[in-house]
Amino acid sequence: MKLPKAGTIEIAPSILSADFARLGEELSVLESAGVKIAHIDVMDGHFVPNITMGPPVVAKIRGVSKLCFDCHLMISEPAKYVESFVKAGADVITFHIEATDEPEKVIEQIHELGCGAGITLNPDTKVSAIEKVASLCDMVLVMTVHPGFSGQKFIGEAAEKIGEIRKLVGPDIRVQVDGGISVETAGLVTSLGADTLVAGNAVFSNPDRAAAIKAILEAAG
Ligand code: DX5
Ligand code: ZN
Repeated sequence: MKLPKAGTIEIAPSILSADFARLGEELSVLESAGVKIAHIDVMDGHFVPNITMGPPVVAKIRGVSKLCFDCHLMISEPAKYVESFVKAGADVITFHIEATDEPEKVIEQIHELGCGAGITLNPDTKVSAIEKVASLCDMVLVMTVHPGFSGQKFIGEAAEKIGEIRKLVGPDIRVQVDGGISVETAGLVTSLGADTLVAGNAVFSNPDRAAAIKAILEAAG
């Protein structure tokens, strides 16, 4: 499924916190709970100090799920890997502004492959770093933890950038938030202008995934 058009609040559960032994089942539970976007955290042990999953995993789960696959590349040299992720079934590819000197080229490359493009910035990176390219994208992701691990504490100062980014991109581009999103923080980030909420620990630490999703969306307003 393509990235839903901006204008609705969506939750994007991060499957990094799912039970990897039952990934297919986890995805169908999300789908039955009304989720449209699955957030897929890709880490290379170089851009971030952790290693997760790559195109072969995306290709396998593509075979069992119709959800929008939102691949968050926390990797160095994203341009090298974009094509493999699109071929594996990514619907949106988000890369880090800190990982490339040629963000326009990467966005163009992603779009030419028929995929949605997203740009993201670390908690310590200023909005000015993405100013020129943000409106070329389908989604801008604001990191509210330092990328690398799920289950970290929400960084409130990083969330302050959401309003500035919403102003910059207008209403037609999704503004996503990633890191420490829960019933406690969801309302704050949507009030600042976010419409796409990544949640890992808050969804998958609850044996009842659907109940956790419902509670986060209710808190999001
Ligand atoms: C952090 C990842 C996040 C993370 C979210 O490096 O990009 O997507 O897994 O997990 P929670 O919601 O537990 O902070
Ligand atoms: Zn992520």
